[in-house]
Amino acid sequence: MSPTHNRLQRLLAKYSNNTQNVSLLTFLTVLLVLFDMQFKRAEALKVTAKMISNHNYPVEEHTVHTPDDYILTVYRIPDSPKLRGAANSTAIARTSKPVVFLQHGILCASDDWILNGPDTSLAYMFADSGYDVWLGNARGNTYSRQHKHKHPDSSDFWNFSWHEIGVYDLASMLDYVLVETNDTALHFVAHSQGTTTFFVLMSTLPWYNEKVKTVHLLAPIAFMRNHSFMLSKLGGLFLGYPSFLSWVLGGMELLPITSMQKLLCEYVCSAESRFRFLCSGILDFLGGWGTRHLNHTLLPHVCETHPAGASTTQIIHYLQLYTSGDFRQYDHGIELNKKYYQQETPPSYNVHEISSCVNMYYSNNDYMSAVEDVEYLATLLPCVELYRIPYDDWNHYDFLWSINVKEVINDRIIDKIARHELQSL
Ligand SMILES: *[C@@H]1O[C@H](CO)[C@@H](O)[C@H](O)[C@H]1NC(C)=O
Ligand SMILES: *[C@@H]1O[C@H](CO)[C@@H](O)[C@H](O)[C@H]1NC(C)=O
Ligand SMILES: *[C@@H]1O[C@H](CO)[C@@H](O)[C@H](O)[C@H]1NC(C)=O
Ligand SMILES: *[C@@H]1O[C@H](CO)[C@@H](O)[C@H](O)[C@H]1NC(C)=O
Ligand SMILES: *[C@@H]1O[C@H](CO)[C@@H](O)[C@H](O)[C@H]1NC(C)=O
Repeated sequence: MSPTHNRLQRLLAKYSNNTQNVSLLTFLTVLLVLFDMQFKRAEALKVTAKMISNHNYPVEEHTVHTPDDYILTVYRIPDSPKLRGAANSTAIARTSKPVVFLQHGILCASDDWILNGPDTSLAYMFADSGYDVWLGNARGNTYSRQHKHKHPDSSDFWNFSWHEIGVYDLASMLDYVLVETNDTALHFVAHSQGTTTFFVLMSTLPWYNEKVKTVHLLAPIAFMRNHSFMLSKLGGLFLGYPSFLSWVLGGMELLPITSMQKLLCEYVCSAESRFRFLCSGILDFLGGWGTRHLNHTLLPHVCETHPAGASTTQIIHYLQLYTSGDFRQYDHGIELNKKYYQQETPPSYNVHEISSCVNMYYSNNDYMSAVEDVEYLATLLPCVELYRIPYDDWNHYDFLWSINVKEVINDRIIDKIARHELQSL
């Protein structure tokens, strides 16, 4: 931590005790955020490994290189403290353990799967149930902000959408994990954009379907015809088709977390904070208004680790799906489309190629993933099983951070996978 950082921290602590200084504090906060943009990103922002080992679970950090030279960080929880003594040999357990791979959504990271703590987070629950757990990180987020020769401060680095995350990152991470575990297939779980990258990969390089045993997609996003997020209408109008504006705004870094954020989050999102509504409000605004499921205790942790960084092109690509009503590759404009795709419009993803059996979990109050869109996609997939959440107010983030995520989602997924493993013995 820099001396400036310390001084600001002391200042903030001092003024937050004085109720008359709220407006000054707000002003200071804005200043800090602006100031913070000057700070270099610190290793301290990468908290997945620390959080896991703080809960006494073993954790490994792995580095995966993509064919286009991005460098990704993948975490592994090979074992659980709750299993030691029961089956007392990590070495034997390791080679025989079934593998699960968890992939996060947009502006998110491996943290998503562990924030709830050891009793209700999907990653720990898998480890406790005897699985070898791997957590992916897409290019551009806190953990995968590296490239062999492109610097994240240059726009070259951010020249990608979730298409590249699917065909390069996800493919490389799955291959890596299967080599490391000497296995032929794994169980796959994803949330939000993680599901989009799954659809991209499995329809573009269909032989990857062989590498998954079961698939569990939370709040899946492919078609966006009925997507209902308020700002998408406006965004779609300006950025939903190739234009000068989308060309200018594309390929930039979008909202990375910063070193000052932890401090601000503790102040703003804590149980005592009068500004706490801002924290839950943002999640409600983005993911679906009026949920009663969100675990409010988690808010400071969610705030500290999000938004984890992405390229603006990822958002623009989604807005294009919203505008076109199709699930297809990035629209560069007629001239460039002819160059990249040898046709004037971008090719649609051939979802018929997704031969793996896909479990999709979706809900009524999800602004990002609409019921009609999920059910439409289901009519196109060769093998699909739908689970519609039985709560009307369940939103996009409840799949990760609700108070009842264990009962509603996690237990259900683990049961299904356990049944699959039993059948294939
Ligand atoms: C587990 O195995 C180690 C050596 O492999 C042994 O020292 C230890 O006592 C064992 N623990 C239990 C609970 O059996
Ligand atoms: C972005 O990447 C594509 C290849 O995927 C390349 O043809 C294009 O020139 C790149 N654009 C920029 C601005 O770097
Ligand atoms: C990998 O698995 C195969 C069987 O699937 C086995 O024959 C081989 O010995 C294993 N290799 C290692 C290094 O464990
Ligand atoms: C969903 O979108 C389709 C196509 O745009 C439209 O015809 C349909 O009315 C929409 N359904 C709902 C419930 O909004
Ligand atoms: C809510 O989050 C807190 C903080 O991580 C955690 O300790 C608690 O178990 C969670 N509550 C439920 C019901 O999941």
